[in-house]
Amino acid sequence: MVKVITYGTYDLLHYGHVRLLERAKALGDYLIVGVTADDFDKTRGKINVQQSLIERIEAVKATGIADEIIVEEYEGQKIDDIKRYDIDIFTVGSDWVGKFEYLNEYCKVVYLERTEGISSSGIRDKNRSQRLGLLGETDFLNKVAAECRYVNGMHVQAVYSDDSEFIPKGLRDYCSNNSDYQGFLDNIDAVYIRSYPDRHYEHIRQALENGKHVLCESPITLSGRQCDELFTLASDNKCILMEAMKTAYATAFSRLILLAKGGRIGDIISVDATCTSLIDSENVYFPTWNSICDWGPTAMLPIFQLLGTDYKSKQIITYLLDSKIRFDGFTKIEFVFNHGVGSIKVGKGVKSEGELIVSGTSGYIYVPAPWWKTDYFEIRYENPVNNKRYFYQLDGEGIRYELVAFLRAIERGKNVFYIDQNISKAIADVIGDFYRDSSSVIIKP
Ligand code: CTP
Repeated sequence: MVKVITYGTYDLLHYGHVRLLERAKALGDYLIVGVTADDFDKTRGKINVQQSLIERIEAVKATGIADEIIVEEYEGQKIDDIKRYDIDIFTVGSDWVGKFEYLNEYCKVVYLERTEGISSSGIRDKNRSQRLGLLGETDFLNKVAAECRYVNGMHVQAVYSDDSEFIPKGLRDYCSNNSDYQGFLDNIDAVYIRSYPDRHYEHIRQALENGKHVLCESPITLSGRQCDELFTLASDNKCILMEAMKTAYATAFSRLILLAKGGRIGDIISVDATCTSLIDSENVYFPTWNSICDWGPTAMLPIFQLLGTDYKSKQIITYLLDSKIRFDGFTKIEFVFNHGVGSIKVGKGVKSEGELIVSGTSGYIYVPAPWWKTDYFEIRYENPVNNKRYFYQLDGEGIRYELVAFLRAIERGKNVFYIDQNISKAIADVIGDFYRDSSSVIIKP
């Protein structure tokens, strides 16, 4: 009996897949199909897959062509499978020509002509298709535009800023049709906002009133009350309002949160997060992106996710570089909870070790600097023999995962809540207090 094996994602099964499977089967007597697991797809850069593993397996099964279906979960599994199942022929489409020569050592490798004119990416792109507008002043918009290329269905349509002279050079071609903010909104389905934080509220409100979905860089607003109001408006207008904070969408960070919540280090007693950077020439022009607005939300995220938002008291200690506009070069905040304590240190113009440490009653989690771009962390115990290291691939600093999550939320008509609304609100409240609360301690060098 000649045994054949082939692998693929088989998302939104199409006739290109079916033709491939038919010809693969015809190469022998028994066909095994390996369907790739979500995590494995992510590590090889496929982040857009729309259907779950089960749905994709069911679709392959329903063709009736496969004699057996297995799941492909790790790099190098093909060799294991070929040996384990005593495979004679390995086959895939011609888009992979040259990539699997190393398998010749174990079985025959056959590339089948790929069917022209159809692909899962193409179908996803057509099904989804959101015209995205970018709003803001910083070069970061260039990164978002570049990351959209990895997200099937998200197309940059227009770019706008209240201060048009600050629109990044690479994006000026997208500005021609936007006379004002309303004109910009008229041309798009969804907007990514990274305007000055004190203008977020107005920009979001107008976008939602026009029925546009919003992905807004943290902080969403400078007060929890405004935050609440906007979430209600989004829900009334059947729009998505999501907070953009790339760390929240990084796989390593979300696994870390799950492990900590699952009790791997016992009860969580303390969360300490530091995020700092020096002021580059760009920041000189953007005084509202001070330490607390630029870094505060990211630093507060693990505290609120792990200890909750119901803290009993907080103390803000700040070092102001410019007291008129309240530009803080450094701010430290201590949050006291009934069951633990959280502290953040954020700086724009003051540099420190950007690590995250979560301390528990049986061990601690250590994320080395820069923890906010994390692909790696360790769980450490009293006895180092028990220590564990975790690595999860992070592409594009997490921006592309954030965009995929935004698109999924739009498709499903509901937020996927990487960042809970309560947390968005708590972050906005703290930042509001930073500006209004006279009880902050001000230090001078
Ligand atoms: N395939 C094919 N013809 C197509 C599309 C896919 O022969 N038009 C083959 C691939 O070469 C592979 C198998 O089907 O052997 C599974 O491919 P998969 O990557 O799941 O499908 P794509 O449509 O290529 O997916 P994507 O657009 O996400 O890359």
